[in-house]
Parts: sequence; C-alpha cells; structure tokens
Amino acid sequence: MSQQSNSKRIAVIEGDGIGKEVVSVGVALLERLAEARGYQFELVHFDLGADRFLRDGATFPEEDQQTIRETCDAVLLGALGDPRVPSLDYARDILFGLRFGLDLYCNIRPIQCLSDRLMPLKGKSAKDCDMVVFRENTEGIYVNVGGQFKKGTPDEVAINEDINTRKGVERVIRAAFDFAKAHGRGRVHMADKSNAMKHAHELWQRCFREVAADYPGIEAKHQYVDALCFNLIRDPSQFDVVVTNNLFGDIVTDLGAALQGGLGMAASANVHPGRIGLFEPVHGSAPDIAGEDKANPLATVLTIGMMMTHLGWPDEEARLVELVRRAVDEGKCTADVGGELGTRAVGEWVVSQIA
Ligand code: NAD
Ligand code: IPM
Ligand code: MN
Repeated sequence: MSQQSNSKRIAVIEGDGIGKEVVSVGVALLERLAEARGYQFELVHFDLGADRFLRDGATFPEEDQQTIRETCDAVLLGALGDPRVPSLDYARDILFGLRFGLDLYCNIRPIQCLSDRLMPLKGKSAKDCDMVVFRENTEGIYVNVGGQFKKGTPDEVAINEDINTRKGVERVIRAAFDFAKAHGRGRVHMADKSNAMKHAHELWQRCFREVAADYPGIEAKHQYVDALCFNLIRDPSQFDVVVTNNLFGDIVTDLGAALQGGLGMAASANVHPGRIGLFEPVHGSAPDIAGEDKANPLATVLTIGMMMTHLGWPDEEARLVELVRRAVDEGKCTADVGGELGTRAVGEWVVSQIA
C-alpha cells in the first residue's frame, strides 16, 4: 500500500440490486479520473453478494478478505441485500466482515443538502443543513452477541447484547472532535439514550465529557437521540458534527438522507485513520427499483469523493461535490431528485464533466 504515490489498488464489490448499477457508474468515474489526472488505479473486482452465495454458498471467503486486507488501499461497495436470501446472513458476513474485520471504527456520513430544490423543510434552505455524523461502527448492538432460546414456542426468548467498550466509545468521540478541529467546525453533539440506558450510555456521557475537555475551542453539546431526531427536522442548522452509537447512527443518517434529497444523495466512508477504508453509499440494494435504470448514482459519486480524500486528494472530493450540486441544479439527475435521466445517463454526464 502506498500513501505517497499516485498508484492505488481499489477493491470493487458491486453487491446486489442497484449496488451493481451505481458501482458501474463509480467504476467509470474512477477510470475517467485516472485518465484525466494521471492516477494509476488498479481496480480489483470481487464476485461477492447474493448471486455468488446462491451459486456456490460462499459469503466472504478468507482469501478474499486477506487480499483486501493486505493489498488494497480502499474498497468501493455498492449494497448488499436480496429478497431471494431472506436471512441476509451472507450480507452481514460481507458488510460486517469488512467493517469489523478491518476495525473501521468511524462510519462518517455527511448530511449536506446541496440544493434549495432538495430541501424538504418548509422555510429552510440548503445552507441550513450541513453536518457530519460520526457513527460508531465496530460495536453496539451490531456485534452478534446473543441468541435465541425456545425458538418457535410460546416461551421463546431473543437477545441481542449491546456492547460498549471504553476504547470503542472513546476513539469515535475523539475522531469526531479531531474532525471538527481539522475542518473548522465549532460544535460536536453527542446523541445517546442515557436517560433509559443507564449503564452503556453513562459510559458515553462520561467519555464525551472527558474527551471534550481536550478540545476547549469546540462546543460540546448533548441531546438524547429522540430529541435529536425531533430537532433534525425542526432546525438542522444547529448541528455541525454529531457522534453517536452504531444503531442510532444508522437510523439518524437515513433521517438525515431525507434532508439531503433522499437516499440517492447520501454518502459514507468507513475508516480507521491510517488504514484501508470502505466506501459505500448509505442506501441499500433497493429491490423495488433494481434493474430499471432508475437508481440515483450521485450518492456513489459523493462516496468516491470521500474515497479520494482518504487516498490523499481532498481537492478531488471538493470538485465532485460541486459536480453533484451542478447535476442537481441542471437537472442532470434521476427522478427521485426531480430529473428525467436514467442511472446510466447521469453517470455518462458526470464522466463527461471531468476535465
Ligand atoms: P434501501 O435503501 O435499499 O431503499 C429504501 C428506499 O429508498 C426504496 O424505496 C428505494 O427505492 C429508495 N432508494 C434507495 N437508494 C436509492 C437510489 N440510489 N436512488 C433512488 N432511490 C433509492 O433500503 P431497504 O429497502 O430498507 O433495504 C433493501 C435491502 O438493502 C435490504 O436487504 C437491506 O438490508 C439492504 N441494505 C444494505 C445496505 C448496505 O449494503 N450498505 C444499506 C442499507 C440497506
Ligand atoms: C447501513 C445499512 C446496514 C447497517 C445494514 C444493511 C446492516 O443499513 O449501512 O446503513 O445497519 O449498518
Ligand atoms: Mn442504514
């Protein structure tokens, strides 16, 4: 892996449903960026997802995990989830195999509304919505600790344990403050449910206060996550950086996507500073529109922007954000954001605009 050179190996996992359609736009964009700017991107395609699982039963083979871990600089993932495989075990194997396996503890999800036309709140405009959510990404209720007992009987019990470690909580809170400091953002909100979840979220409260003391120039605020959801809709302009746990971060960022113009506009980066990162749009495989050339690929364009920053080229991200803003303003977009183009045509337009 080389942080200095222009040469990067990028693992590509299309996954399922619209994942395939948006990743094909992402790949064309990466190829065009390489051609236009002299990057050397080696794209390594992995056949992972529902089709593969249904064909040979493989979910995330150890050799693929090793190749990604040891030889790649970044992963581009479309989405996983296919109605033909209701258990979704294969999807969790891949997604959590990457997030947990690579210890990518920050799931960074910007909630930025790029155009007044996309702002759904009465009396608000795009400038009122510009925040970044830091979602803890390696623990919480996602860790698969628990089990079922007396399944299928009237006495059945189902348990998912919520794991919160000092190390896990502290590092994501610190990352949120570091980000705020580095990007001139003056306020960090922490969202929890410490009024109900006395043990786990007392740890979040204490840790937040202690870490905040190391960043005297940044305002540290707390909101219970239910109130934060209320305030996201009432007045999103009060939020700058938000840090929260895995489950709340998942929910809050779909809510946030609605403020951006929909899931087709929401990007994410799963990172552990200094290591390989995983980049994926926030949306899922959208079986309701899969294969119809309707999926909005702009979240994937923004996601590639986040990948460029991670690889050392933040100017590329800034240019891609502006390009996406222009796509929306000029109607070079799909129906979900008010345009008339298909996925492929939006992708072709985006690629054509890279000078
Ligand atoms: P979803 O995000 O796939 O879709 C929710 C709604 O938003 C649908 O109506 C869909 O058509 C629309 N939508 C989503 N992305 C869009 C886009 N780019 N352009 C236009 N419209 C878009 O969520 P869901 O329906 O709850 O989940 C479907 C499957 O995806 C499930 O199996 C779920 O587990 C999975 N999922 C995977 C990921 C991931 O792999 N990272 C993320 C979320 C959901
Ligand atoms: C996301 C998704 C996943 C999550 C699902 C598919 C497990 O909703 O990336 O937001 O909850 O993390
Ligand atoms: Mn989600």
